[in-house]
Amino acid sequence: MRHLPFAIAAVAALSLPALAQPQAAKPAAAPAAKAAAIPPIAAPGRSLLSTKDVMRHIVNPAAEAFWARSGVVDDEKGANDRTPADDANWAISLDSAAQLAEAGNLLQMEGRARDPDGPWMKYAVQLTKAGLAGMAAAQAKDHDKTFDAGSAIYDACYACHGKYIPRPKDSLYKHDIDKDLEAAKKK
Ligand code: HEC
Repeated sequence: MRHLPFAIAAVAALSLPALAQPQAAKPAAAPAAKAAAIPPIAAPGRSLLSTKDVMRHIVNPAAEAFWARSGVVDDEKGANDRTPADDANWAISLDSAAQLAEAGNLLQMEGRARDPDGPWMKYAVQLTKAGLAGMAAAQAKDHDKTFDAGSAIYDACYACHGKYIPRPKDSLYKHDIDKDLEAAKKK
């Protein structure tokens, strides 16, 4: 990559930290590893994947699969109700809800629980409960319960991320998750 000195100076003046470190310092062919770091088999009962990989490969795909089969979205054809209309899709809802329910337990394992005496465990249990509600909804093939479970699943992600994924100090996203949750309860 070639650098134009005046361009660098302009970037520095705007203080964009991501660009302040010239990319050329890194070897060109080393994109950030997207693939899961595959760990050796751990001792029995010990966590294996990092929390990040549990999110990427278990929690997130399961949640996406569930959400894709719940609720009504507006698309070019109008209101599109994504609630399953056949057994094959209800089976996917059930599987993905079960994965989320059990993922709540994975998050509580030693080595993953960020803060075993703090709210981490509560949010992990919240995910399990939401997953179980999703399973019940899929078993009942119930439209409204599927939507409600999808919201409950979302709330669990949002609560834990709000508390445990640090935001940059100068983030414009300022609200306090605990206050948000209190306010939501009062509604
Ligand atoms: C009990 C806490 C907790 C819950 C519940 C939780 N997450 Fe996370 N999630 C985390 C933490 C902590 C990270 C940051 C991990 C890291 O970067 O090391 C994370 C990161 C992520 C990431 C980014 C992964 C990456 O590639 O950097 C995604 C996507 C994600 N979570 C999706 C979800 C979804 C979807 C849900 C709900 C269905 C959810 N999470 C529920 C704690 C949680």
